[in-house]
Amino acid sequence: MEYNIALVKGDGIGPEIVDSAVAVLEKIGEKYSHTFNFTAYLAGGCAIDETGEPLPKKTVEGCLNSDSVLLGAVGGPKWDTLPGNIRPEKALLGLRAALGLYTNLRPARLYKALSGKCPLRADIVDKGFDLLMVRELTGGIYFGERGRREGKYGAEAYDTEAYSVMEIERIARVAMSAAQKRRGKVISVDKANVLETSRLWRETVHRVAEEYDGVEVKDMLVDNTAMQLVRDPSQFDVLVTTNMFGDILSDEASQITGSIGLLPSASLGDGTRGLYEPIHGSAPDIAGTGKANPIATILSAAMMLRYSFGLITEADDIENAVNDALDAGCRTADIASDDDTPLSCNEMTAEILDRI
Ligand code: IPM
Ligand code: MN
Repeated sequence: MEYNIALVKGDGIGPEIVDSAVAVLEKIGEKYSHTFNFTAYLAGGCAIDETGEPLPKKTVEGCLNSDSVLLGAVGGPKWDTLPGNIRPEKALLGLRAALGLYTNLRPARLYKALSGKCPLRADIVDKGFDLLMVRELTGGIYFGERGRREGKYGAEAYDTEAYSVMEIERIARVAMSAAQKRRGKVISVDKANVLETSRLWRETVHRVAEEYDGVEVKDMLVDNTAMQLVRDPSQFDVLVTTNMFGDILSDEASQITGSIGLLPSASLGDGTRGLYEPIHGSAPDIAGTGKANPIATILSAAMMLRYSFGLITEADDIENAVNDALDAGCRTADIASDDDTPLSCNEMTAEILDRI
């Protein structure tokens, strides 16, 4: 088969890690006789430098015309002082909205080989964990009305959270179907003791749950969830939550895997086109040093094969290669222990390529 992939390399370590994932896709293409056509588009800080805007129209059109998008990371200190509407992050939010990607899947699991990098106590690590965070991606406070105004105490700023029944229903369905293919357990995360949006969220999730056999749904307040993730992550199968809670909890989940450099993500809408990116940022402090960990982006490419193209054997092949490389002791700096010699981004990529 032939697939057209839009590449949005972005800023910082973005180009290095996307190049690694492209090398992996090319190897998969050779092995399984698929053709992947890559077209690069600008977004983020590099797009601001080149065109004056974070998300040029050409990029949106290119992504809309592609079969899927592979993204590195956007942003960096150089653009941090720009006003909100022309910040690099706008590119990411704009792309998610333009492509209708309301679902964000963020799997987090503890690799046996990396259990020593998990900051949790040994008895918790021994139980392991394998969870899927289902984050709503095009609604909530990220996209609500915001602004500045005069308030009771003078100048103030506000951001608003709104969720419609439709938005909650569709993300709840994604979580329920995912749970049916996993261990059948959904934790719906909210702040229903305070927020009205959370009370609607809770009601709606439970109504949707009735349509799904064999799925057990429980509610958990977000503060408690943050605590439970470090107390006993093995209790979780699927978590479903809002845009902002999901953003925060997925970073927390990444830390207990050992490194944020390991976590991939898939952003999906109603069709098969998705946007695949690591959950980490552009890491400007290590950009160009070769220290970046390509694994999160390589695993994001595997998710693209699995979720957008239905290439399950090929996706498994990549995931097994990553697992084998870790088992063989290959480590980038972020996951290296004192007695390891860290591999560069390119060396780690080569180790993974050898195992495909
Ligand atoms: C993420 C990032 C983005 C988000 C930023 C860069 C806008 O933190 O994908 O988790 O908050 O969604
Ligand atoms: Mn984030």
